Amino acid sequence: MKKVIIRKTEEIENWRRNINSEINFIPTMGNLHNGHIKLISTAKNDNSNVNLVSIFINPLQFDSKLDLENYPKTIYNDIKISFSNGADAIFIPNNEDIYPPNNKNIKFLKAPTELTSALCGLNRIGHFDGVCTVVYRLLNLIKPKNLYLGEKDWQQLLILKNLLRREKLNIAIKSVPTQRDFDGIPLSSRNLHLSKNQRKLIRFFSSELLEAKINFQQEKKINLNEIIKKLSAKKISIEYLEHLDPYTLQKTKPEDNISLLAGAIRCGKTRLIDHVFLMKRRPIIAIDGPAGSGKSTVTKLIAKKLKLLYLDTGAMYRALSWLLIKEKIDYKKEKKLQNIFKDISIVFKSNTNSHQDVFINNYCVTEEIRSQKISSIVSKISSIKEVRKFLVEEQRKIGESGGLVAEGRDIGTTVFPNAELKIFLTASIDERAKRRKSDKNSKDSLEIDLHKLKELIKKRDFEDSTREISPLIKANDAIEIITDGYSINEVVDQIINLYYDKIPKETEIK
Ligand code: PAF
Repeated sequence: MKKVIIRKTEEIENWRRNINSEINFIPTMGNLHNGHIKLISTAKNDNSNVNLVSIFINPLQFDSKLDLENYPKTIYNDIKISFSNGADAIFIPNNEDIYPPNNKNIKFLKAPTELTSALCGLNRIGHFDGVCTVVYRLLNLIKPKNLYLGEKDWQQLLILKNLLRREKLNIAIKSVPTQRDFDGIPLSSRNLHLSKNQRKLIRFFSSELLEAKINFQQEKKINLNEIIKKLSAKKISIEYLEHLDPYTLQKTKPEDNISLLAGAIRCGKTRLIDHVFLMKRRPIIAIDGPAGSGKSTVTKLIAKKLKLLYLDTGAMYRALSWLLIKEKIDYKKEKKLQNIFKDISIVFKSNTNSHQDVFINNYCVTEEIRSQKISSIVSKISSIKEVRKFLVEEQRKIGESGGLVAEGRDIGTTVFPNAELKIFLTASIDERAKRRKSDKNSKDSLEIDLHKLKELIKKRDFEDSTREISPLIKANDAIEIITDGYSINEVVDQIINLYYDKIPKETEIK
């Protein structure tokens, strides 16, 4: 494809008509560095869409005239960098193209106050309104499928996500972690203005944030005053240092797993921001839903793609059911169960086919627990109070350090009520029966006809959703996905997008 430079808004329309492809859009203000390169190359490697980089120094987002005048301009180099890293087109409008005088159609937007009453919003009045206005204008001209933004400007990212929701724009935001220089300071066009000594101070600031992150992993708490004291001792001028909920930018709650520690400092005339995400444990995804909704297949694929542990809680109930039957234990005598459970261990191990095997007391039961005999009894056994108590405790132990995706019927409501992402996966009974029938790994496909399968699924749904203990119900904060008519990969992609909408990519960096 011929690489093009577009300068006029009218040309955008023509170009779009000719490309015959969806667009990945990377908005910038130029002076491109490795942070921008990462955005462009991520877009290039993500899909086969056409990649468009815009370079426009937006006067509306500068709160000081001097800052605007001093903003580094390196257009020739920017063009070279964009094209050599995967841009197919570069849009370089001038001020009149973006804000034509007398054009009544330009919408001057306001960023939401709930997201601007913290961090940079308090100190850079009007800045985020300017960002919203220019990005909205660019999106309307370019009409991309995906918008690539850096997590370095986390508040900007939240505000733009909010903008897309508010304006009902069907555009996916793809974020890229903060890119850091050799000395650990975040890459920023404004770094150009720093003296050697100022750079040293920023390095100290960034390393303090990093240290707070590491300490938090162990101690689960943070002492803001202590950090402020240390920064002040170095004569670093702090504009703000705040510990907040990373999504609402309000005060963190004790039960929150992920929080944001963000600060802005001034070095001479230059103002710099940095942040880290503090985490008590790695993220957890909870996937609940009725039998046959595709949970297992989807959960396994998500675990693989996101490199998370796959916690198959259904297999744990099946394994326990298998043992109780095998050892002819009268599970109706609940009191006795507690003693028996003391000596039971259920573990998952990856096998050579990169699948997972389930072991109960060191005996592999992966195959045997899928029989119709176990299918017909597992719901009854899993409704026994002692059984649930025991297995929920086991599951929570496995989940203490997070980094897992668990599937079941009460994961989001009982086992991991603080999971970062909760999905309720479901499908119509017809669809679920059809899937079971065509599942080559399921003994059901051979043994039972479709009509009988539907009846069994209905019965199982009823038992699961009416039982007294941990019934199958959708958690209030779960997102329901009805999978009829979607391929497995489409469902997996949808959940992965929801995950990355919630979990900053940066949290994956050690
Ligand atoms: O992050 C930036 O560089 C700018 O705020 C943006 C998104 C290009 C809008 O001018």
